Amino acid sequence: MSKPKFYITTPIYYANSRPHVGSAYTTIVCDVIARYKRMCGYDVAYLTGTDEHGVNIERAAEKAGVTPQQLVDKNEKIFRDLWKLLGITTTGFIRTTEPRHALAVQNLVRRTMRVSPDAIYKKKYEGRYCIYDNLYVSDTPEPADCQICGRPGELVSEENYFFRLSAYQQKLLELYRSNPQFLYPDFRFNEVKSFVESGLKDISISRKSVKWGIPWPDDPEHVFYVWYDALTSYMSGIGFVDGEHDGPEFKKYWPADIHAMGKEIIRFHAVYWPAFLMAAGIELPKQIVAHGWLLFEQEKMSKSKGNVAYPEPIVKVLGNDALRYYLLRETVFGQDGNFSREALITRYNADLANGLGNLSSRVLTMIANYCDGVIPAGRVVGEQFSENHRQFLGRFSDVSVQIILAAYEGFGFAGAIESIWALVASADKYLVVEKPWTLASDPVRRDELERVLYVAAESIRFIAVLAFPVIPDATQRIWEQLGQTGRLADVRIDELKWGDLKPGTKIGKPEGVFPRVDKKEALERIETMENEIRNPGSSQPDASTTTTNKPAEGASAGTSAAGTAAIPAGAPGAGQSAAVGTSAAATAATPAPAVPAKIGIEDFAKVELRVGVVKSAEKVAGADKLLKVMVDIGDEVRQVLAGIAPSYAPEELVGRKVVVVTNLAPRKMRGVESNGMLLAASARSDGKAVLCTFAEDISAGAKVK
Ligand code: MSP
Repeated sequence: MSKPKFYITTPIYYANSRPHVGSAYTTIVCDVIARYKRMCGYDVAYLTGTDEHGVNIERAAEKAGVTPQQLVDKNEKIFRDLWKLLGITTTGFIRTTEPRHALAVQNLVRRTMRVSPDAIYKKKYEGRYCIYDNLYVSDTPEPADCQICGRPGELVSEENYFFRLSAYQQKLLELYRSNPQFLYPDFRFNEVKSFVESGLKDISISRKSVKWGIPWPDDPEHVFYVWYDALTSYMSGIGFVDGEHDGPEFKKYWPADIHAMGKEIIRFHAVYWPAFLMAAGIELPKQIVAHGWLLFEQEKMSKSKGNVAYPEPIVKVLGNDALRYYLLRETVFGQDGNFSREALITRYNADLANGLGNLSSRVLTMIANYCDGVIPAGRVVGEQFSENHRQFLGRFSDVSVQIILAAYEGFGFAGAIESIWALVASADKYLVVEKPWTLASDPVRRDELERVLYVAAESIRFIAVLAFPVIPDATQRIWEQLGQTGRLADVRIDELKWGDLKPGTKIGKPEGVFPRVDKKEALERIETMENEIRNPGSSQPDASTTTTNKPAEGASAGTSAAGTAAIPAGAPGAGQSAAVGTSAAATAATPAPAVPAKIGIEDFAKVELRVGVVKSAEKVAGADKLLKVMVDIGDEVRQVLAGIAPSYAPEELVGRKVVVVTNLAPRKMRGVESNGMLLAASARSDGKAVLCTFAEDISAGAKVK
């Protein structure tokens, strides 16, 4: 009999920057579901990809001095490499710049015009649009801010193709009524229902002003609205062409069983997407599943806010399973959760190293030492078990397994993990009570010893199977150390039965799967690697403490942008300006970096300088020289660390106009991120810095050149 199919997708991620722990969260969650479903006998298709069109990609490329295609080519590789590093078991990857995708998008709209001739029409549009979230903020030209990121919407005034969303209100409400599982969790479903009940406006699905996109069929002056383009990836990625000439994969896997995503993009998936599909006469996805946000430093982790943690250093220091375990265990799925590297390392040591890792290596070592490395015979009838045995076995009953499987099915990952780790704790307790090390010293109690070690080994097998979707690497290794052959991925989790461990099996060499780490050292290694990602070539000691001769922040050579801006007074070619941002302390404490006497204009042009207005300033705990300054640079408020505490009291700075270097790679000092530099002169005899400012009135964000 052929296996039932299951198709799950992540959102396709914007390829304007590299992925962070927040982007990895969705991909990891989907991977846990995909692995779990495969263990339940499903044939799983798992799609992810990159969203590569739109004005924010265009602008990011312009800023980086490359073409949009070069930018997305570079970033999509980083996404792919990360998924590989994280052991993500996707079966497909779609890029919206692929020809197969463009064809699918154009064909979807053609099909829509055929099936529902009234669904699409042309009209003049005037409104406000957020280029960062690709969202129509308001349908009037008056200034309005984006509901997601709070940035001001840009004025758009042009003729567009519109989708008659208003005509789908009743059909959508009917969909929600007839499919109460359509959106998880419920409270978010209710928000969507209220939104649709309050009336729907038609939406523009093409743009004339944007060049970087998929051309509208037979009207190439228009490109598709990025969300129409992006949503179609869920079908183009598995072989949708036009609904008539589709590949076997599409015929097999569509409709999607789960589209998973963060809460901010529910509306696109639960309102727009089903309406687009209804209009084209295509089957609808079965379920939209939305999780909350990972918060970092009290805000949504997001590149544009600069508060991101990267997954690669965590994997390099703690292994692949640690991040997966932590994200699923610590966050209640569906709600926002905090990310903290300290908490991650604490969990790693407590639950993984001291918990499962220690349990499995103890039991396996005892089998190696007391039973010649062979699983002992332990299959004795119930009456011979002590009360402790009976209670312990009860915890591994079919009912307990069902509870854990139900938790996986219902997206209760933290609950599933908690129940599995309760099994780890009871196995530890079981050993403490039964004391196999004492039994081993008494030949008369050999049977008892074998029974205890069999039960302990079988409990580890159970735990390995149940925990596999979350921590696939370590459980596979435990599986092999237990002498089991084949891939744990192929074991049926829903057919797990106590007693299937075969006595007489030769075990492998017991090896720790989660070595304990020193918290401080692990943290330092992670932070150093993160700084290196933010600012390649920066992995020297922290600028605020170093006294070595080190180039200023971001300067790999003296002629680089930041190096130029940071030339202290007196250095060859320097004026009276010094940067007092991320390299401030370095400027104060270190000799001048080597710079050539002259630089070309092209070097200077690399430095982006803007007028900033200081919103607030405060001291940084544990750093005498540093102030944390929040500075408005027009389209955002940046956090900059400046080494000006000896020169200015924090309250003196509020409202002051300053010059900010805005295109410096972010850097951490004392665990606090700095996202830019303030310019200052540093030639006073008392060594104090004097901030550059403006005599005339000038608004925040204006370019300085
Ligand atoms: N390109 C669109 C999606 C199109 S899908 C047809 C997009 N891209 S995105 O790069 O902004 O990624 C958004 C998704 O990344 C979120 O929906 C969520 O799945 C994940 N996350 C990004 N930051 C996150 C957190 N801080 N926390 C949790 N998830 C996060 O929107």
